[in-house]
Amino acid sequence: MRFYLESIPLPDNVFLLLRDIIKERVGIYYENSKKEIFSNKLSPLLVEKGITSFLDYYYFLKYDPESEKEWENIANALSIQETYFFREVEQIKALANVIIPDLYKEGKQHIKIWSSACATGEEPLSIAMLLDEKGWFERLDIEIYGTDISTKAIERAKLGRYTERSFRNTPREYIEKYFIRDGNMYKIISEIHKRVDWAIANLVNKEEIKRFAQSSIIFCRNVLIYFSEDTIVKLIKNLAEYMENPGYLFTGSAESLLKYTTDFELQIIGGAFVYVKR
Ligand SMILES: C[S@@+](CC[C@H](N)C(=O)[O-])C[C@H]1O[C@@H](n2cnc3c(N)ncnc32)[C@H](O)[C@@H]1O
Repeated sequence: MRFYLESIPLPDNVFLLLRDIIKERVGIYYENSKKEIFSNKLSPLLVEKGITSFLDYYYFLKYDPESEKEWENIANALSIQETYFFREVEQIKALANVIIPDLYKEGKQHIKIWSSACATGEEPLSIAMLLDEKGWFERLDIEIYGTDISTKAIERAKLGRYTERSFRNTPREYIEKYFIRDGNMYKIISEIHKRVDWAIANLVNKEEIKRFAQSSIIFCRNVLIYFSEDTIVKLIKNLAEYMENPGYLFTGSAESLLKYTTDFELQIIGGAFVYVKR
């Protein structure tokens, strides 16, 4: 095991260069006040490559064709995969209790749902559990996609094994019905796990998100908080362009879109905030 006792020094001007190319490529944006966290997270990547200065690392990312693979490491290093089952559950209930029934009544046979920054998978699996509870998989053809930029997060989502940390908001009866104890972990039952298709997708890459964003329902929760305003504006515009009509977009409770877009109208549906495509 390696220990990284010290961060590599990061001069202010190099910080600005690096954080801007990272923002363009990955979306995640570091304010000036977060420079130290930024350098602590990236230093191990430089050490791993035998690069001794952040300026050399910047040149490597910008000009070396070999750097393509490094972006995966950067996304893994900078992303924060904090999530848990049934987080902000009112939105998932609104989906299962109001939105899906409405789409069904309108005659929709096939519904596509995208959890677009799903981290280790708790969000799309919560959606699948609630839809299962309500019997929607028997009545409708439902596709659920769980994607994230982090390859490490998606590898874990594919395993479907979770620790107690993921269950801070999960009713006991759901744990008993949908999980199998596996040592000190819990494995989601395969009937639910197989309802979700897992993939890597970078929200700031318009081409990469196209096939997922062509959905009726998009969850884009607790990821916009890491993006800068211009990145959010571009992303929401792309989502509005690709989404189906009617289209329902869920963001986290700290992520208001009101000042960024007129493509969506904020509504309260089933007691939850939802952005509805105009
Ligand atoms: C805090 S988690 C949110 C998980 C879940 N949506 C929730 O609300 O519990 C943020 C996730 O956003 C992902 N992320 C960050 N930048 C991204 C990008 N450009 N494209 C896709 N996912 C991204 C991170 O890898 C991380 O898994």
